[in-house]
Amino acid sequence: MSSHSHLTNPKVPLAPPGATKKVRVSHLLQMKEAKRPIVVLTAYDAPMGQLADTGSADVVLVGDSVGQVIHGFDTTLPVTMEMMILHTQAVARGVKRAIIVADMPFMSYQVSAEQTLVNAGRLMKEGGAEAVKLETNNERILGIMRSIVEAGIPVMAHIGLTPQSIHAMGGYKVQGRKSEDAIRLKELALKVQEAGAFAVVLELMPRELAKEISASLRIPTIGIGAGSDCDGQVLVLTDLLGITEHPPRFAKKYVDMRNGVLRAVRKYSRDVRERLFPAKDHEFE
Ligand code: KIV
Repeated sequence: MSSHSHLTNPKVPLAPPGATKKVRVSHLLQMKEAKRPIVVLTAYDAPMGQLADTGSADVVLVGDSVGQVIHGFDTTLPVTMEMMILHTQAVARGVKRAIIVADMPFMSYQVSAEQTLVNAGRLMKEGGAEAVKLETNNERILGIMRSIVEAGIPVMAHIGLTPQSIHAMGGYKVQGRKSEDAIRLKELALKVQEAGAFAVVLELMPRELAKEISASLRIPTIGIGAGSDCDGQVLVLTDLLGITEHPPRFAKKYVDMRNGVLRAVRKYSRDVRERLFPAKDHEFE
């Protein structure tokens, strides 16, 4: 089944099994069992959250990619808790059906389990998130993640390329190409499952490795640059919309908004300069 066939095939219900209104974490596990691909999309504000939700995304991720996509930083590192809360609040106003997952920004969960608990709680209480996502690439973070899961916070894990470790990793490179790295990632995937994650993002890794990890886990895998055998896929909204100037190779542009917006802005500029706008229809007598 292609990841988009549920939108066109009337035999495949739009809502996940058992949920006609709100998607819940438990539905994602059912979707994995039913081999029904999970649709995840990032959003950073209310209108985009609403469009992702109405367009039938199962999960709306308020990614810390907001730092690059909206705020123009080079990396996700400068993103703060305050920024994540503000964007999550906006997205939550637009989303009704999808699960809202908020990224925990750099240094909001790396210091201690106590601080992580406070920050994850803020994303849920103040932001309106229903789950949080953590980049989980070492044993220490696994321990911290376990403690917030035990406190009742649903956690999505994230392995493979973890952009908050960009300087430690030395660039945005495909992970797990060497056999020892692939083994480490397979073990890590099992560990995040044991630590209580309800799903795990697999970013930028060979398709075969993502396939093996997906087959070895009970929890769903959500791929980005990890091939089509994951249990779901996530895309950054501005890549999908064709707004990103230099999108990564793994992203697919579904509409060319960059050129559409440029054409519209140029036409508006010309209309104003030639006094064609406002026209009679836009004026008041
Ligand atoms: O921040 C983000 O948008 C993400 C996704 C790319 C998975 O982490």
